Amino acid sequence: MALMTKSEQAPTEGVPNVPTHVAIIMDGNGRWAKQHGLPRPEGHRHGVENLRRVLRACVQEGVKILTIYAFSTENWNRPKYEVDALMRLLEMFIERELDELDSQGVQIRHIGDLEGVNLRLARKIRSATARTAHNNTLILNVAFNYGGRKEIVQAVKRIVREGVPEDNITEELISRYMYTGDLPDPDLIIRTSGELRVSNFLIWQSSYSEFYVTPTLWPDFDQNEFHLALETYAARTRRFGKTDDQVNG
Ligand code: FPP
Repeated sequence: MALMTKSEQAPTEGVPNVPTHVAIIMDGNGRWAKQHGLPRPEGHRHGVENLRRVLRACVQEGVKILTIYAFSTENWNRPKYEVDALMRLLEMFIERELDELDSQGVQIRHIGDLEGVNLRLARKIRSATARTAHNNTLILNVAFNYGGRKEIVQAVKRIVREGVPEDNITEELISRYMYTGDLPDPDLIIRTSGELRVSNFLIWQSSYSEFYVTPTLWPDFDQNEFHLALETYAARTRRFGKTDDQVNG
């Protein structure tokens, strides 16, 4: 993972080779709030506002799948007031945005575990996913109460429970048992706010993803920065273990 330097951050027009699947670790809301002298939940609230902008950018740029890391299985360890605020924000996001997302053709999906999530929120998540299931402009995968290791554990348990014969166990089969089973792996993973770690996000699916890390805090990661991330991706050569010569013919 390389941190983007300022000199690399000059947007230009027209991105060829748009990634099909972009995943984002929306980090830095707390630091943004601190910088602005606000309580942490305000940082998350501005983070949600920014998500609306980035969603519009995805539709404009032709990205087909966006996976966002909204709440990890480890985030339960945060102070209760912050956990409660994050739960409320997701609920409000669904209440306020569902009509517009539906009319834009966004298919909302949830990845993670709804166990432990309060019943009212879980019901809203289920109803939003059911209502938008037929949409096909953009798939928005919301990783909420999500952990990559937990996802692998649940996949292994299902494989064992269903009695899959050992000889049938392949990488493709395991991929199908992940929450993202019917989707291609992420082409590009963006992490805002500069941390150089994966934080238990899509650890199975990211084996050949390209990483883009920017020091910009999530609430400030605007449409131009998103465009720049796509341009940076488009300029990369994905080798999937091969040599440059093999890839370039
Ligand atoms: C990381 O910032 C961000 C999160 C733990 C939550 C991300 C959530 C949102 C943007 C809002 C909720 C999502 C939806 C879909 C409504 P941090 O708090 O770790 O920031 P810090 O590292 O600066 O403290």
